Amino acid sequence: MTTAQLKREPLFGEITRKLRRHLAHHGLGNTARRLVRAITSRWREHRLGIVTSGNIAGTEMGFDAVSFGYQPVPYASFDAAMRHVDVRPGVDVFVDFGCGMGRAVILAATYSFRRVIGVERSESLSRIARGNIVRAKSKLRCRDVLVETCDARNYQVPMDATHFFLFNPFDEPVVLNVLDHIRQSVEAHPRKVSIIYALPKCRHDPLPSISWLELKSELETIDSDWQRLAIYETR
Ligand SMILES: C[S@@+](CC[C@H](N)C(=O)[O-])C[C@H]1O[C@@H](n2cnc3c(N)ncnc32)[C@H](O)[C@@H]1O
Repeated sequence: MTTAQLKREPLFGEITRKLRRHLAHHGLGNTARRLVRAITSRWREHRLGIVTSGNIAGTEMGFDAVSFGYQPVPYASFDAAMRHVDVRPGVDVFVDFGCGMGRAVILAATYSFRRVIGVERSESLSRIARGNIVRAKSKLRCRDVLVETCDARNYQVPMDATHFFLFNPFDEPVVLNVLDHIRQSVEAHPRKVSIIYALPKCRHDPLPSISWLELKSELETIDSDWQRLAIYETR
């Protein structure tokens, strides 16, 4: 056996172990879908020249209980969401509340948004997101892409922001606080806005009871078994 083969063996062992565990827990169909997703995700990251995969608990980042940790939006879920929103080239502005390492920000910037903004509480994740944006730059249509490090509760919603993305970033009290800032911004500068919101099905979604919003679409994604991904618009 060659040295190269010896080096490859543990990796192969690890993959088969993970595969067996997945099959036992999720069944064949789900495991196959997750495998395809993992491969597609690697490929998309490679093409964009970015690294956004990972899973970090909020407690590891020193956050309070209402601010969740990091997990990037699955590429397929973001693609599905974007098929349900209109983007007016050079007009619309996208804001990702809790942008983490910048996956959604970068994907949004491949569309013709006028500006794309990420808001992230963690200094280190913001730094990673900015590095990813620089590396993906040649693949982006939108040239004005920015990450602001701040708590979403203190973020002043820009008066031209039209598309808001929340991929399970924080708990209901913070979501309501952020929605209130959006409402105030829309009242001061009337415009149509979309809110793309994803959360685990086990959590209560407060958006259906917000009187100034209406549900536009509820999406089927690869994670629909545990995740709710919905798009709301101003009435
Ligand atoms: C589930 S991740 C979503 C990452 C990114 N939006 C995406 O879809 O790839 C949630 C992110 O929200 C950030 N976050 C949590 N609470 C926050 C808060 N109060 N203000 C700003 N960011 C927050 C976390 O640090 C984490 O990076």
